[in-house]
Amino acid sequence: MELQQTTTGEFTLYIPSMDETYHSRNGAISEAKHVFIKEGMNRTQGNIRILEIGFGTGLNAMVTAQHAADTNRKVFYHTLEPFQVPYDLIQKIGYGAILEDESLFAEIHNAAWESAFKINEYFTLHKTTQKLEYVQLQDDAYDLIFFDAFAPKKQPELWNESIFKKLYKATRSNGVLTTYSAAGQLKRDLKSAGYTLEHPPGANGKREMTVALKQW
Ligand SMILES: C[S@@+](CC[C@H](N)C(=O)[O-])C[C@H]1O[C@@H](n2cnc3c(N)ncnc32)[C@H](O)[C@@H]1O
Repeated sequence: MELQQTTTGEFTLYIPSMDETYHSRNGAISEAKHVFIKEGMNRTQGNIRILEIGFGTGLNAMVTAQHAADTNRKVFYHTLEPFQVPYDLIQKIGYGAILEDESLFAEIHNAAWESAFKINEYFTLHKTTQKLEYVQLQDDAYDLIFFDAFAPKKQPELWNESIFKKLYKATRSNGVLTTYSAAGQLKRDLKSAGYTLEHPPGANGKREMTVALKQW
């Protein structure tokens, strides 16, 4: 795992053996804010429960915690991460400084794993090392799902109909799943699982992304 600079100047992580980055090569922070806040959190209202697939660098958690405080909403954030990023890389990546709240970023990373931890009035964080394939999720438990796994071609075992059926059951009525990908097989699998789809433009000039709605 190594640091790689995006075209907007901040860093993301790169895994040479997979030839895969943690974020868009054209901007990590802009992608997080577009895919998960604009097309995710802003499609929901009030106090919500979020499930994230892939905590990674904690960037999505960070922008969500900031948005929750800015909009006076309470978020319970449950995030899965079986392969923790070493803390020296987290410090080097510097999202806390760029997003002007280093203590919030540190608190998100220093929070204990496997239990819910109240970071502040607006943000409660539950990090777990469980894998998506094996984690047991309660029915109708989440208003919003951040599907931020590595790309379908790189991790096909996480992008299939049976995974999306499991996530559909865990989504509350009128809940939303948002992801950066708009791959054809993803669209078919999400529809088979029961979701209704929308495809707004993606981050950083990408033609489209996917928002899946549980309209029931
Ligand atoms: C694209 S990165 C996520 C980026 C992250 N959301 C962020 O804000 O930095 C994908 C993440 O999924 C994690 N992952 C890999 N296999 C997984 C699995 N089976 N279940 C859940 N997460 C997994 C990876 O370790 C990686 O951190």
